[in-house]
Amino acid sequence: MKPIASLRVLLTGFFLAGIFVVAASFFSWAQDSSFREKFITNYKAQRFQQQVILVKKNKDLIADEIDSLIEEAMQEDKSFEERMYLLDIASTMGFMHKYWNDDDEPLNKVEPYIYKELKKEEQRTAELMKWKKEERFLGNFVMKTRKDEMDKEGLAPVLYPHWLHRIYFECKVCHDDIFTMKRWSNDISQDKIVEGKQCGVCHNGTISFAADKAEECDRCHIAGKPEAEKFHNIKEIEHEYIAVTAERLGAEWNTEALPEGNIPVDKFQFIDWLELKRKGVFKPIVSLDPDFKDEIRDNMILFESTSDFVQNVIFNHKVHSEWIKCSTCHPAHFKDELGGSNVKMIEIARGRFCGLCHGKVSFTFADCLRCHNQPKGVVAEGVLVRTKMGESPPGEQGQTEEGQ
Ligand code: HEC
Ligand code: HEC
Ligand code: HEC
Ligand code: HEC
Ligand code: HEC
Ligand code: HEC
Repeated sequence: MKPIASLRVLLTGFFLAGIFVVAASFFSWAQDSSFREKFITNYKAQRFQQQVILVKKNKDLIADEIDSLIEEAMQEDKSFEERMYLLDIASTMGFMHKYWNDDDEPLNKVEPYIYKELKKEEQRTAELMKWKKEERFLGNFVMKTRKDEMDKEGLAPVLYPHWLHRIYFECKVCHDDIFTMKRWSNDISQDKIVEGKQCGVCHNGTISFAADKAEECDRCHIAGKPEAEKFHNIKEIEHEYIAVTAERLGAEWNTEALPEGNIPVDKFQFIDWLELKRKGVFKPIVSLDPDFKDEIRDNMILFESTSDFVQNVIFNHKVHSEWIKCSTCHPAHFKDELGGSNVKMIEIARGRFCGLCHGKVSFTFADCLRCHNQPKGVVAEGVLVRTKMGESPPGEQGQTEEGQ
């Protein structure tokens, strides 16, 4: 074994030296990469015997090959998966080299990289999961676009409890006068808040606590802290405080009407707002402006399903327009004419049409039967029936073009 191995080293040495004279860098690269290529091919095909032969034959290339794999893996533009793929090849190579060529140095070199990458990934996922936990309770938003600046002041990111505000205020109060209904689109910043815009419309010491008082910073900059439990752990919600605040504002939070003392949630962890409404638990404020004229459209619209597999859907204009301004939906998301928008499930799942709210702050689109619950062929009295898309009589409402 030994003499053959050393002969191979000698031969390889000769071979390489010869090549150097001719076309040094190019060929040595080609040599390396063809070894790597063969190694990967064997690895994937699990050709163990061939791999052993290859590793023995290329003994002297392995240390350099592993170095170059590490270097490539650690390039900045590599994703975690790409990086782990290359490091995995390097460590397998190192492992075989250790056993068949009796040299553990290259393997010892790769392992710390793998360990470090795994640790980093673990932290990254833990970080992600941490916000997931707080955002899971719908809808909470962790706001941290300006994380660097907050870090500098030793402040945690902001946890915006969207659900808590829904208790006190109809959507109309904020959407779309104060905030457009799309995350990250409002460019919220401390300066604007302190000027009395955005959160500062209320968080100014009158409607609610002030955003420029040092003792109040941590009430918003609370994401990730144990004190944030009361915003995402249903058992920790401070019902008494909410009730007192609601009363101060002219809204209502009747804790005694809460089913079993808790906020009801569906199986997806969405708050069941309609149940809360039915039980008379809450009554939000419609506007901050005493002269506000509320506009409600009291009808129901039947979406006859284009699919044989699901039942029809009723859209309750009243329920929606009590909470939401006409201008939030019309005309940006739906044309205000019967059958005017070509509503498709795939688009809903992508966050358009009904998916603007459902799946984000209202019950999720995964809850199929909460929408698809109207038997085919039955039209309840007074319900407006949309013309099926594509079957609209000429010159009438139903239009077949794409909704916007
Ligand atoms: C007190 C103010 C306030 C009230 C009341 C309010 N929202 Fe919001 N809403 C916000 C803020 C703030 C955002 C985030 C904006 C940003 O990130 O730029 C938001 C975002 C949203 C989004 C975007 C979610 C996403 O993932 O893109 C939807 C949808 C939404 N709200 C729907 C509603 C509905 C429906 C209601 C009423 C049932 C409501 N909001 C009530 C303040 C409010
Ligand atoms: C329409 C008025 C209004 C707007 C706009 C508003 N809030 Fe509030 N917010 C309130 C009220 C009222 C409370 C109830 C707490 C109180 O006043 O004591 C509250 C409570 C909170 C709480 C809970 C604090 C605690 O200790 O219980 C947080 C956090 C919060 N708001 C953050 C925000 C952020 C962040 C924004 C902007 C993205 C915002 N709010 C926009 C009115 C508003
Ligand atoms: C009503 C909630 C609220 C309160 C109270 C509050 N902030 Fe903020 N703050 C925010 C929001 C929302 C942002 C934007 C977060 C993001 O998207 O990055 C922010 C951002 C910041 C930033 C990042 C840089 C910038 O200009 O936006 C700093 C720094 C900051 N706040 C400091 C403070 C300090 C100091 C206090 C107390 C004096 C305070 N905040 C109180 C809601 C609040
Ligand atoms: C927020 C309400 C809502 C929820 C929840 C919902 N849908 Fe729909 N869906 C609609 C509307 C509105 C239409 C358009 C009318 C129609 O064709 O049925 C539609 C259409 C469809 C269609 C017809 C074909 C197509 O592509 O548009 C299918 C199939 C469908 N949905 C399946 C589902 C399934 C499966 C689920 C649960 C995972 C679901 N829907 C949840 C509102 C909803
Ligand atoms: C949550 C979104 C939403 C809100 C809020 C909303 N609408 Fe609609 N509206 C719809 C949908 C969906 C349709 C059906 C579109 C279709 O058939 O393609 C519709 C249809 C209509 C139509 C034609 C059918 C009819 O009812 O005669 C009119 C007119 C209309 N809306 C007016 C209004 C007015 C006025 C308001 C405010 C008081 C309002 N809408 C609030 C979503 C909304
Ligand atoms: C602008 C936000 C928004 C849009 C767009 C929207 N919804 Fe809703 N929807 C809500 C809110 C808020 C509720 C109250 C319950 C909740 O938040 O979970 C609700 C409740 C419902 C309910 C239960 C109420 C009832 O009638 O029993 C159904 C069903 C429903 N929506 C279907 C739809 C369909 C179908 C569409 C699209 C054609 C749609 N929604 C579009 C915000 C929206």
